[in-house]
Amino acid sequence: MFDTMTMTKAVGAVCGSLLVLMLAGWAGDSLYKVGGSGHGGGHGEEGELTQAYTIETGAEEAPAEGEGETVDVAALMAAADPAAGEAVFKKCGSCHKLDGSDGVGPHLNGVVGRNHAAAAGFAYSEAMAAKAAEPWTPEALFAFLENPKKDMPGTKMAFAGLPKPEDRANVIAYLATKP
Ligand code: HEC
Repeated sequence: MFDTMTMTKAVGAVCGSLLVLMLAGWAGDSLYKVGGSGHGGGHGEEGELTQAYTIETGAEEAPAEGEGETVDVAALMAAADPAAGEAVFKKCGSCHKLDGSDGVGPHLNGVVGRNHAAAAGFAYSEAMAAKAAEPWTPEALFAFLENPKKDMPGTKMAFAGLPKPEDRANVIAYLATKP
């Protein structure tokens, strides 16, 4: 009796989830909007709607979430705003100058495209000096500035980092305007 009920429920759940999947496929965004918060780009949150059927929906959700988390540095740089980056640079200005002179940190005018550890006379950490043959591409700056000590263990840049990708792109765009 109970086993039959359990089986019936299980079959019902599987059928229901398949139905949800099919509807989700056909109805797309409009289905998500029914119960979701409705703002754009929230694939992960909207996906919660189908969480009752975790096993079946996992494969459906994965691509949507993957898209949202991939950071396209080139696209971010193309959309970056140097003026907004100037405001972000205030966080760097206590250590870095843009007039060719060094402070707590090396001067950053000309840093985009310059090799690592290239400010003559600045006492770099061994970690930074070890990369002296590598240029500071926007991608390298982007990775370093998110969390300097994680990206480059041993760096003496005592800065927590810029968690927002837009902040990093903007400040890099600003630095690129300072030859
Ligand atoms: C507390 C001081 C401090 C702050 C704040 C700081 N930095 Fe630094 N930065 C340093 C130091 C010190 C170094 C040298 C690191 C080393 O040798 O490992 C450095 C190195 C760098 C380098 C490598 C330069 C080169 O010549 O290779 C870049 C790029 C850089 N910082 C960017 C930034 C940016 C952008 C910000 C703001 C978002 C920032 N830093 C904030 C102290 C700071």
